[in-house]
Amino acid sequence: MAQTVLITGASSGIGEAAARRFLGAGWNVAATMRRPERQPFGPAPSNLFVAAMDVTDEASVSSAVAAVEARFGAIDVLVNNAGYALLGPLEGLTMERLRRQVDTNLLGLVAVTQAVLPGMRARRSGTIVNIASIGGRMAFPFTAAYHATKFAVEGLSESMRFELKPHGIRVRIVEPGPIRTNFLGGSADWVEHPAYARELAGFRRMSEALKGTLPPPERVAAVILQAAGDRSDRLRYPAATGPYPLLHRLLPDAIWRRLVAFELARRSR
Ligand SMILES: NC(=O)c1ccc[n+]([C@@H]2O[C@H](COP(=O)([O-])OP(=O)(O)OC[C@H]3O[C@@H](n4cnc5c(N)ncnc54)[C@H](OP(=O)(O)O)[C@@H]3O)[C@@H](O)[C@H]2O)c1
Repeated sequence: MAQTVLITGASSGIGEAAARRFLGAGWNVAATMRRPERQPFGPAPSNLFVAAMDVTDEASVSSAVAAVEARFGAIDVLVNNAGYALLGPLEGLTMERLRRQVDTNLLGLVAVTQAVLPGMRARRSGTIVNIASIGGRMAFPFTAAYHATKFAVEGLSESMRFELKPHGIRVRIVEPGPIRTNFLGGSADWVEHPAYARELAGFRRMSEALKGTLPPPERVAAVILQAAGDRSDRLRYPAATGPYPLLHRLLPDAIWRRLVAFELARRSR
């Protein structure tokens, strides 16, 4: 019998590519998104169910999970993908925007996980795939709020793994590098502060220049499918990371910091 995956934030980017990848592999796919009327898949095949879900709205989370369980019987894999980046200097963040970032990238992930766990525990089987980032393991400037949420997802996932193993539930963390999606475009929430205007302008120019050169989301989708099907105890799955994790691991901190500062200055010219 086909397995079922529920994906959050499946309207674009990595979530959309993952939905297509699972569909291609014969899975039942529950593609959840804030605005299902804008779903990108066209006429839905019978193994695709598009459901409305805003991960920051608990009522929408529980009704979407109930609808998916009613449609496909059970959820075998949850892919916690919904998220965006709050970018700019820490001093320019308002608490309201910071709360929205945490509500979406961290608390939203917890809410959806809590909603699927009773079904998985009852069947003593399931896999939770959390989409973190290389930005959950190392930090770059003007990304503090986003890093805070992704570092949190790393710690939360590592802890969950211990708790859920006795219940037969696996936890995976997929860690993409920079990927060509709406992430640095329409999805990003930029804040400013006059004291950082020059450096931030450089960072924005760098982000703009980078966009066209990045690998496509299909590269991450392939890793998500692999992580979902893997029967081992592996926790972390880097995906299209570029050289950053290796350099970060091997270089002494002082050299790493100079490298990041040099790259930022070079690319933002
Ligand atoms: N692209 C990268 O470079 C990169 C690198 C590492 C990690 N990631 C992670 O990958 C994940 C997907 O990002 P992406 O690159 O594919 O960007 P994207 O194309 O902007 O996709 C983000 C998705 O999240 C959804 N979303 C945002 N807030 C939501 C909410 N409150 N409830 C439900 N869905 C919500 C968006 O829905 P709407 O269409 O409604 O806005 C969209 O479907 C994120 O967790 C991101 O942090 C991305």
